Amino acid sequence: MGSPDDTGGLGRVGQRCLRYPVTCLSWEKLPQLLWRPYEPHPRQTRFADGHEPDPKIGGGTGLAGLIWHSDVEFSLSGTNFYASSFNTEGVRSTPERFYLAKPRRMIEGYVDLIEAHAPQTIVELGIFQGGSTAFLTHLARPEKLVALDLRPTRVEALDLFLEEHDARGSVRAHYGVDQSDTERVRQIVDHEFGQGCQLDLVIDDASHDLEPTRHSFNTLFPRLRPGGLYLIEDWSWGHFRFSRNRSGPSMAKLIMELLLSLPYCEAMIEELTVDRFWAVACRGQMKVDADEFNISECSSDRGRQLLRATDKDRDDSTN
Ligand SMILES: C[S@@+](CC[C@H](N)C(=O)[O-])C[C@H]1O[C@@H](n2cnc3c(N)ncnc32)[C@H](O)[C@@H]1O
Repeated sequence: MGSPDDTGGLGRVGQRCLRYPVTCLSWEKLPQLLWRPYEPHPRQTRFADGHEPDPKIGGGTGLAGLIWHSDVEFSLSGTNFYASSFNTEGVRSTPERFYLAKPRRMIEGYVDLIEAHAPQTIVELGIFQGGSTAFLTHLARPEKLVALDLRPTRVEALDLFLEEHDARGSVRAHYGVDQSDTERVRQIVDHEFGQGCQLDLVIDDASHDLEPTRHSFNTLFPRLRPGGLYLIEDWSWGHFRFSRNRSGPSMAKLIMELLLSLPYCEAMIEELTVDRFWAVACRGQMKVDADEFNISECSSDRGRQLLRATDKDRDDSTN
């Protein structure tokens, strides 16, 4: 049975449920109709006697306290954020108030993830208005965070924010970089982290297209340390009911490749956690040749048979 709604149904990550419309690609253009009211995170629900929970999350955990002022506004370490998949208010980032293209559910998911894994070396693909980079700067307090975006123009608000927080050395934003450009991405990662450095976390919130996303995975997954995480946001965006007329390459294929690698390449991906909105692959102990690595070749013949549809597949049905 399908979920009662198209965009906001519940998906599970362990104990966590996410509920939000797709965060990527033309979120500004998608009709507001798609928006569903926020459903509280399980730990943010009311108590049995009806009183409201403490709006702080992460406060007692060693993470800087994050305080929600409304379902789309929060502050963290003195910086304000407007957080929504659909920027219906047309908010532009300033050093005091960033636009973060994620819904509250996902932000709470990041708080859980950062709290659990405390990543210190992070690559983020997809800067947009700098909200997620500023958010991660405060939340993770990383030793090094390198963010990349295809757009050539620097995000001034982010530069000023990093200056103000004395983080220009530890948080580095690179613009005009295509996530598909293996050589360039490698060069930046080697330069910023040092050759052979192993990453704790990679977040891909960039093109949300199959080929560039796969290119980045092939480039950066081998750079993770064992136990490091590779997070792909919004893999499912082309499969919501509102996307039913969409055709062409689907990021879901990459997620299936990750899944089918589990039995075939033992200990390459130690664990894969997928919900409707993001997929998190935890790197196993298996050695991987960074120059040769191709996730499309990491499943059995039988697995590949399942994925025989070409990357250029087109579904002619309209359902
Ligand atoms: C969904 S937005 C990122 C949102 C941001 N991470 C946040 O949460 O606020 C996607 C970004 O990816 C960038 N992008 C799109 N295609 C890309 C590519 N091939 N390589 C690198 N960046 C790309 C876009 O320019 C855009 O800024």
